[in-house]
Amino acid sequence: MIVKLNKSHLDDVLLIENECFSHPKSKETIKEELNNENYIFLGYSVNQKIVAYINYYKVLDEINIGNIAVLNDFRKQGIATELLNKVFLENKNSTVFLEVRESNLPAINLYKSLNFEQISIRKNYYKNPVENAVIFKKE
Ligand SMILES: CC(C)(COP(=O)(O)OP(=O)(O)OC[C@H]1O[C@@H](n2cnc3c(N)ncnc32)[C@H](O)[C@@H]1OP(=O)(O)O)[C@@H](O)C(=O)NCCC(=O)NCCS
Repeated sequence: MIVKLNKSHLDDVLLIENECFSHPKSKETIKEELNNENYIFLGYSVNQKIVAYINYYKVLDEINIGNIAVLNDFRKQGIATELLNKVFLENKNSTVFLEVRESNLPAINLYKSLNFEQISIRKNYYKNPVENAVIFKKE
């Protein structure tokens, strides 16, 4: 079930962040984002446990996806697809943008499966390790 997240979900988001990313955001950064009304956080709950989240912000008719992450034990069940489809449904007339590490094939396959189109590469965009970002867009 998809649920809207708020500042009371800080520990849930932190747990997912720490499991899913080699360089997770700090607790302070996540707290700020959860408190920022321009950021929208959606979670996916299974038996009352938040097992995945997506966040994004909207400027006019553009959506920028910040992060999407699913706990290991819950991957390959369509949860990330459901979360992205919910963002599309709630923002029907918007263009959605996101960026991803060039080596992140699970995420790249996910975006391609949802008909995102690759629009550019940002050279050496990521640090630790340095890596290109692939920019995707979906109308
Ligand atoms: C990327 C991620 C969010 C996918 O979540 P998920 O819930 O497992 O994705 P879904 O089950 O909705 O998968 C949809 C499609 O994505 C692709 N995909 C997902 N995981 C994949 C994998 N491990 N290898 C290859 N393709 C994969 C497939 O095309 C899949 O469709 P299929 O199941 O019919 O083959 C998840 O692996 C994750 O949290 N990774 C770590 C965090 C991360 O890298 N986030 C993206 C940052 S930009």
